[in-house]
Amino acid sequence: MNPSKIETSELLCKIKVESQVRLPSISMVFVAALFLSSIVIFLISSAGNALSLNYYEKTCPDVDSIVTNAVNKAMMKDRKVPAALLRMHFHDCFIRGCDASVLLNSKGNNKAEKDGPPNASLHAFYVIDNAKKEVEDSCPGVVSCADILALAARDAVAFSGGPTWDVPKGRKDGRTSKASETTQLPSPTFNIYQLQQSFSQRGLSMDDVVALLGGHTLGFSHCSSFQSRIRNFNATHDIDPSMHPSFAASLRSVCPKTNMAKNAGTTMDHSPTTFDNTYFKLILQKKVLFSSDQALLSAPKTRDLVTKFASSKATFTKAFASSMIKLSSITGGQEVRKDCRVVN
Ligand code: HEM
Ligand SMILES: *[C@@H]1O[C@H](CO)[C@@H](O)[C@H](O)[C@H]1NC(C)=O
Ligand SMILES: *[C@@H]1O[C@H](CO)[C@@H](O)[C@H](O)[C@H]1NC(C)=O
Repeated sequence: MNPSKIETSELLCKIKVESQVRLPSISMVFVAALFLSSIVIFLISSAGNALSLNYYEKTCPDVDSIVTNAVNKAMMKDRKVPAALLRMHFHDCFIRGCDASVLLNSKGNNKAEKDGPPNASLHAFYVIDNAKKEVEDSCPGVVSCADILALAARDAVAFSGGPTWDVPKGRKDGRTSKASETTQLPSPTFNIYQLQQSFSQRGLSMDDVVALLGGHTLGFSHCSSFQSRIRNFNATHDIDPSMHPSFAASLRSVCPKTNMAKNAGTTMDHSPTTFDNTYFKLILQKKVLFSSDQALLSAPKTRDLVTKFASSKATFTKAFASSMIKLSSITGGQEVRKDCRVVN
């Protein structure tokens, strides 16, 4: 045998062994680098929208009280405003994060969220415009419309006798609002599985679902939102059997089959301007408007929580405040809008 040949094959073998040893370590380094860079990217992108209680400490120290004063003025004049603001913030956060996309007007051939189908109860946009104006007078170009809406929702609940909480700030306003995306909002016909799916996609738990739905202690609903439960429910039941028959009868008289007024509807509970735990008592009596409300009785875990909240307003309001902070911390936008209705 030619010694040089042996040398070569030994050498080849050596290289092969070495490269076999090296290969996994190179790929591990590569995977680790990918992993680390994705963490860095994640940290940078979340730091861009990191919320904090003192976000405007230097740039607009009085923002909380400026918004509170502007919003209180409107709420004192019109008792329907608090419910409107709370729902507006919820809709905002569920589409593209809390980025004030709900406030943008349609423009050209782009139909905005507020002109999409489930918008019937969205109103009082002028309140946010007024608050923004007051904020701009003190600190121009600094405070996002998304932060103003988050503060206004907090003020709406407190003004109505509910809990209050510190709102982390630093949200940015988005540049996109599409009517077609309102299909991402949960429907009042949702069952417990659909509720779970819709909220968990946004990092919210079933405990959050029960607490947040307590927002239905405020405001009003149009007949169209619950009419499928009170007539022609399905092939075997004219009325949804999960609704109390006498409650269904009263809703049928409010929402007649013929000659129904365009604005016909009813309040969410007996005290639509008071933030209390009546909603949970009504769930236990099967006297709530939407299937999605009544659905909270259909799983043991949510049923227990409904019972707990029905028996203690304090337990409910504490849970509501902490779930609101979670809901309102879903961020999304890029800029600080000058006018809440149009992108910069
Ligand atoms: C599964 C989730 C939810 C569904 C399916 C749902 C559905 C609805 C519907 C159908 C209406 C009546 C609209 C109309 O006919 O005028 C309504 C009103 C309202 N919702 Fe919800 N909602 C949900 C979650 C929430 C949450 C999380 C909040 C707040 C924390 C909230 C606050 C309100 C308020 C305050 C009103 C009354 C608005 C007014 O009177 O102007 N909702 N909701
Ligand atoms: C709601 O959307 C419809 C179109 O789906 C539109 O005609 C109506 O003006 C909108 N209502 C409000 C209050 O924006
Ligand atoms: C109608 O709804 C009830 C209650 O949800 C259900 O038990 C029944 O099976 C339904 N009937 C049909 C034909 O779907």
